[in-house]
Amino acid sequence: MNTIINRREFLGAISSLVVGSIITVPLLSGCATTGFVSYATKANNGTVILDVSHFPELKEIGNAIQINVENISEEIILVRKSENDFTALSPICTHLGCSVKKENTFLRCPCHGSTYSLAGNVVRGPAEKPLTSYHTDFSNGTITIYL
Ligand code: FES
Repeated sequence: MNTIINRREFLGAISSLVVGSIITVPLLSGCATTGFVSYATKANNGTVILDVSHFPELKEIGNAIQINVENISEEIILVRKSENDFTALSPICTHLGCSVKKENTFLRCPCHGSTYSLAGNVVRGPAEKPLTSYHTDFSNGTITIYL
């Protein structure tokens, strides 16, 4: 038996799903010039919670995505370090503040050439400090990033 619902019922059902969900899902995606596939999402109470299965780029260890956290204007590079371990980094170079880009297995600043590992550590200066990192927890396919 098919059930037909009107537009108002449909929108009501969708909004109750959104309100009841704690997991942030990607709002849009696209390739950026940063070397990352970029996604937009929103923070909730100082955290971003992601179902990793929504991000095919993160299936392989060593891959990374960029997350644009719209409601707090924050960008995060999320790297899969191992099967159960992720690193969340700010893309802001600690030398003079340009945004790093992914180049193979490194993060490189286009302004003066500072190079960072995917863990955010300086591999080559002039930057002297690692990229800012965020604490993460990974459990049951869900990653929580604490901003
Ligand atoms: S701002 Fe990144 S190396 Fe200078």
